Amino acid sequence: MEVLGDAAVLIDGPTVAAVGPAADLIARHPDAVRQEVRGILFPGFVDCHTHGVFGAPRLDDHQRRALGESYQAIAAAGGGILQSVRDVRGRSADDLYRLARARLDTLRAHGATTVEIKSGYGLDRDTELRQLAVIARLAADGSPDVVATFLGAHEVPPEHRGDPAGYVRFLCEEMIPRVGRERLAARCDVFCEPGVFTTDASRRILEAARSAGLALTLHADELEGAGGAELAAALGAQSADHLAAVSAAGIRALGASGTVAVLLPATMTFLGKRTQAPARALADAGAAVALATDFNPGSSPTVSLPLVMALGVSQLGLRHEEALIGVTVNAAAALGKAGDRGQIAPGMRADLVALDVSDWREAAYWLGANLVTAVWTAGSACRLPSAPVSLG
Ligand code: NIG
Ligand code: FE
Repeated sequence: MEVLGDAAVLIDGPTVAAVGPAADLIARHPDAVRQEVRGILFPGFVDCHTHGVFGAPRLDDHQRRALGESYQAIAAAGGGILQSVRDVRGRSADDLYRLARARLDTLRAHGATTVEIKSGYGLDRDTELRQLAVIARLAADGSPDVVATFLGAHEVPPEHRGDPAGYVRFLCEEMIPRVGRERLAARCDVFCEPGVFTTDASRRILEAARSAGLALTLHADELEGAGGAELAAALGAQSADHLAAVSAAGIRALGASGTVAVLLPATMTFLGKRTQAPARALADAGAAVALATDFNPGSSPTVSLPLVMALGVSQLGLRHEEALIGVTVNAAAALGKAGDRGQIAPGMRADLVALDVSDWREAAYWLGANLVTAVWTAGSACRLPSAPVSLG
């Protein structure tokens, strides 16, 4: 990582054309339109794990956890993900789009220029397709750049409770081939966790996804863990996400693979857990570590990658540089997009964020403050909200 003083970035259309000392660039391109930046310019942040299309917040779950119930106990009693599924099934595409658009604008106002969004609150054919259509509409808006992930395997829906294997067959034989054929998503994810999808079922779902031409990612070893990291590495997944309960073998497997370890410290913090993913052990084993918000109504209702960076330093023991790389270069790699984003360099997408700071480490320091003063996606300046936007 390099920090330049008195620097300028030359943007040509959607792309960075040059980076260097401001005096040199201005002398070589006297006609270029100039815009002064207050503070420090960073590569646009990449949020490589969100569940950004949902309905209402889950305040009852939040209150029950404050009273001591666990995330799993609330889920087993029909709350949790299934609460959001009942909600999303009853909403129109327009309603979901309106809610998601405001939330996505707020993620961008906190510096995210690329956002991955998962389906997974439908769990039936029509509602999953509706969620994917909403994600496609958000992507067509153009900013931030959106990457769609199919997460039909987020939970077993109520109508398949007596026959989870039948739901896995429906995903593998009907949904995933269709998602691949009609290019409704670029990637496929599974919530691989005891009590949700077993490692065997996860493997079957991801193999079907690979055959359908989708890239792979996995909610791996989030709460209890059961070999999710090893599975992600063995299948060559782009990323293994969460990893709070990853085993020593899982750490070794990720270290020896190209699969990015995506850590989500806001989730464990919001769930009131005292443990976090073993970020240092993963980094020491050679794994590429990325950070993401996990933005969702159940376990991580945060829109702020800078907050996640600060938690990465304070809760995961990352160095400031690792936290910044975690939301830029490595997060881009987690989406298979390190070739065109995550760095300010010639040929990269001109995705940039300006923070009102005087030392770059402040990006991961002001816990919960939003210091973003300007955002560009693909070379275009974005309009940032001048007042808080309702997220509910
Ligand atoms: O990443 N663990 C599964 N999915 C989300 C939670 C989704 C929800 O609770 O609505 C997560 O933590
Ligand atoms: Fe998640």
